[in-house]
Amino acid sequence: MTQNDMGIGILGTGKYLPEKIMTNHDLEKMVDTSDEWIRTRTGISERRILDKEKATSFMATQAGKKAIEDAGLKPKDIDLIIVSTVTPDMAFPSTACLVQDNLECENAAAYDLEAACSGFLYGLSMAYSQIYAGLCKHVLLIGAETLSRITDWNDRNTCVLFGDGAGAAVIGEVPKGKGILAIDLGADGKGGKHLTQPAGGSLIPATIESVNNRMHYIRMEGNEVFKFAVRTMAESSLKVLDKAGIDIKDIDFLVPHQANIRIIDASRKKLKLPEDKVIINLNKYGNMSSASIPVALEEALNEGRIKENDNLILVGFGGGLTWGSCLIKWHK
Ligand code: UT7
Repeated sequence: MTQNDMGIGILGTGKYLPEKIMTNHDLEKMVDTSDEWIRTRTGISERRILDKEKATSFMATQAGKKAIEDAGLKPKDIDLIIVSTVTPDMAFPSTACLVQDNLECENAAAYDLEAACSGFLYGLSMAYSQIYAGLCKHVLLIGAETLSRITDWNDRNTCVLFGDGAGAAVIGEVPKGKGILAIDLGADGKGGKHLTQPAGGSLIPATIESVNNRMHYIRMEGNEVFKFAVRTMAESSLKVLDKAGIDIKDIDFLVPHQANIRIIDASRKKLKLPEDKVIINLNKYGNMSSASIPVALEEALNEGRIKENDNLILVGFGGGLTWGSCLIKWHK
């Protein structure tokens, strides 16, 4: 996809991170692990955990509200709300509909999107298409996850990795030649078995047995996902560069999915990018699935790192298995 007669880009961003911090030292008291192992093998030092009485829609609402304000818009200006999440408040109504009610976005349609950690990129593609087709003017896209609720706190292989949070963006028209210049999405359903939450759907509904067997928690073959991630992050980034006709030397920042510092480093090396061109915040938050990329983007913007006309690649991978990337010439 290339941009033709109009520019479509991000008009505003927002985030919400729960206040409660769980450090690696806290995890040392829960499973057989160490701060040293977690930091050296993943790059994570701490993650945020949402209070028990709250759920994904709460964080999504907070992040979405900030993004609408940051875009200089009112809730009634939003035509569509997409919430990317694998941890909706409930199966239905969708979390997007709960957010639509909370934010009083009376003119917005709303739906949830599930592409795991690639969800924000899939959502950008959906938002772009809706606006390009003239069906919407302003789309509120939110990546929000309460992964602590589906994390097996007895499994050291996975529980050290994940955290809770939400990131949001409002997508709309920007000047021609700016905004989203190219998108690449992909999926490999054969590899889906490497990262699952087996129960809770129509195949294995909740039963005493499924709960006792801890089947409602994340299960992952970390090594398989690791290899897939390094390959697809680099390949997908090269695809959007090619589609947009931009050289890697002209990329100012890579905003990768924040899963593991070693995955990010290996992808960066494949792309021959210097370290200072990569946005990293996973040390503070761990892997927040579809919230990782929008939160990293929001923080880089707020720190003043990203400037007008900077070329960014947003890139991620995740359950499904899925991947995606998006090349943006920044304008706000
Ligand atoms: O958003 C997508 C979601 N998923 C991912 O991004 C995950 C991608 N994969 C990874 O990030 C890495 O594969 C992990 C961080 C999950 C694991 O790192 P690894 O270097 O692939 O370790 P490993 O699974 O090969 O395990 C090495 C050793 C094992 O011990 P033995 O068999 O060598 O004795 C594990 O049992 O490390 C052990 N281990 C731990 N030790 C201390 C695994 N987890 C831990 C832990 N603390 N938390």
